[in-house]
Amino acid sequence: MKKLVIVGASGHGKVIADIAVANGYRDIVFLDDDPGLTKAAGFPVVGTSKDAANYPDADFIVAIGNAGIRKRMQEKLPGVVTLVHPSAVLGRDVLLGEGSVVMAGAVINYGAKIGKGCIVNTCSSVDHDCVIEDFVHVSVGSHVAGTVHIGEGTWVGAGAVISNNVEICADCMVGAGAVVVKDITEPGTYVGVPAKKNKG
Ligand SMILES: CC(C)(COP(=O)(O)OP(=O)(O)OC[C@H]1O[C@@H](n2cnc3c(N)ncnc32)[C@H](O)[C@@H]1OP(=O)(O)O)[C@@H](O)C(=O)NCCC(=O)NCCS
Repeated sequence: MKKLVIVGASGHGKVIADIAVANGYRDIVFLDDDPGLTKAAGFPVVGTSKDAANYPDADFIVAIGNAGIRKRMQEKLPGVVTLVHPSAVLGRDVLLGEGSVVMAGAVINYGAKIGKGCIVNTCSSVDHDCVIEDFVHVSVGSHVAGTVHIGEGTWVGAGAVISNNVEICADCMVGAGAVVVKDITEPGTYVGVPAKKNKG
């Protein structure tokens, strides 16, 4: 098994380290732009993101929650892998783009297409035939019903529910616990049940 370099040593990075261990990686190092960090989840922090070029033969994964930064970082890196926790369930004909992670207990059902650099977080679900564009985050415990389309960089907050057949455009924040029942066509923050644009 190759060395795995995890870029970003936050809590999200630590969970990704666990998924990597569950997938057989043993030689794991972190890069993080906080120069004070020396260890995360029992693995060494060996430098900042600028040091990625020192690991030409390694596998890489970006563990940064902010979609824009995750995208910029991932696009500069070679050898970006996809990680799936062994307890996640993936249906047939599911596609996962490079740099995406599927965390423990997540379920992705038949025919769903998940783009690059996405996070399908712990115990969330993405149902049949959804199209989830690049760098989307489906947070812990959120549920995306069948045939939903979510645009690039959108973040679905913890415990949110997206009704079937809904379209959400790029660059949206769907607040924790929101229930989206109608298409969202304008970037912005949407909260509540049913979800409405947050003026706050
Ligand atoms: C939606 C969210 C991004 C708004 O954050 P924010 O812009 O800092 O907003 P504020 O906390 O200043 O709140 C502004 C108003 O929106 C309300 N609000 C914020 N989040 C809300 C939510 N999820 N549902 C309902 N109302 C919410 C606040 O109560 C406040 O209302 P008020 O003006 O009447 O007091 C944030 O609250 C949220 O839900 N983040 C999701 C975090 C998450 O899911 N993390 C998962 C990690 S895996």
